[in-house]
Amino acid sequence: MKTTLTVLAISGALAFFAGCGGEEEAATTKTTDAPQVDSNMLARAKGKQVFKTTCVACHGEDGKGIEGLGKNWTTSEYIASSTDDELVEFLKVGRTIEDPANSTGVAMPPRGGNPSLTDDDLRNVVLYMRKLIEG
Ligand code: HEC
Repeated sequence: MKTTLTVLAISGALAFFAGCGGEEEAATTKTTDAPQVDSNMLARAKGKQVFKTTCVACHGEDGKGIEGLGKNWTTSEYIASSTDDELVEFLKVGRTIEDPANSTGVAMPPRGGNPSLTDDDLRNVVLYMRKLIEG
């Protein structure tokens, strides 16, 4: 009787560990399959938060710009012809109304007027902006 119980206990423990090991393996396989996609998705998700808290006020939910406040991103030659790096640099400084490139007579504030945004935040929001434009 004592032996039977011990055997049952051991096989129960083995089944438990086998179950854990299996799940862990599945999770590891998933992340190594597509690390690039995962990190881009994460960056865009963070960028969306930046957009919602800072850019949306002037550029609008759909990125088409709110009259008198921000510019339409979806028809922007400037965005389409700039690299991600160039756009991050642009976001750091914005564009004053004195700048000859200004086309609206309204200023684009540095970091969208939110000095707490880090350079990483700006990079993430550029990725989100591209996605919003593509639709
Ligand atoms: C206070 C309003 C305001 C906020 C907030 C704002 N923008 Fe702008 N943004 C503007 C205006 C106005 C322009 C157009 C300036 C001009 O006429 O050249 C502009 C232009 C731009 C452009 C260049 C578009 C082009 O075609 O020249 C980009 C890119 C841009 N904004 C990104 C952002 C991002 C990203 C955020 C959030 C981090 C943001 N903006 C927040 C007002 C704003």
